[in-house]
Amino acid sequence: MRPLAIIGGTGIDDLEGLEVIRDHRIQTPYGEPSRPIQEGRLGEYTLFFLQRHGSPNAIPPHRINYRANLWALKSMEVGGVVAINAVGGITDAMRPGRIVIPHQIIDYTWGREHTFDEGQEHTLLHIDFTEPYEQALRTELLAAANSATITHEASGVYGATQGPRLETSAEVQRMARDGCDVVGMTGMPEAALARELGLPYACVCMVVNPAAGLGDLPLTLTMMQEVLVREAAVVRQLLQQLLQNRPASSHA
Ligand code: HPA
Repeated sequence: MRPLAIIGGTGIDDLEGLEVIRDHRIQTPYGEPSRPIQEGRLGEYTLFFLQRHGSPNAIPPHRINYRANLWALKSMEVGGVVAINAVGGITDAMRPGRIVIPHQIIDYTWGREHTFDEGQEHTLLHIDFTEPYEQALRTELLAAANSATITHEASGVYGATQGPRLETSAEVQRMARDGCDVVGMTGMPEAALARELGLPYACVCMVVNPAAGLGDLPLTLTMMQEVLVREAAVVRQLLQQLLQNRPASSHA
């Protein structure tokens, strides 16, 4: 089994505990990834890590080169990608501090490079995206959350917005009517590009704030960051358990 890659989001600038063995600087036909890909060891496990915002948080969600990031990971022949995303909570259960393993996506982003299909290969990339996350990897994440006794939501609809501004309260109400449980800015086109490349991809969300109009206080980055610090530690625990549960061949 090939090692997994982790794509870190806001609040996961480095994978704490990752003993970095080397940095892979990769050029892709789409340009450079957000940062060199770190190859390292987490305990006895090999892992690749890429922070999608560069370091630290230099690249806003709409300027991330998602194609280069996914292409680079594919070229490293990773066995799958676990994406970590900070989100706002929309439905009742999605309170700050909660970990969510979403099962669906609604894409509200626009103007991003969202496909590898440039119309030149004469093979249309009409990928099946009915289930946007890879079921086997989701199941592994859920099993890890259960065995590490991490309180989590086992499903949820991720609404991907363009950013970098936060939403209006009317936009959040519309998203709630559409069926979104959480809102974030980086879930797409990342998930679809992974599918185009045939990379197993699943996502772990950290709810860091009530979405716009749903809390008592104005949304601030400081508020989100406080929750993020606590949740990042839980996500690390979840990843550790995920690796521990994997077959021994990924422990090389
Ligand atoms: N909206 C969009 N993206 C986010 C939010 C939010 O409320 N919180 C963290 N990322």
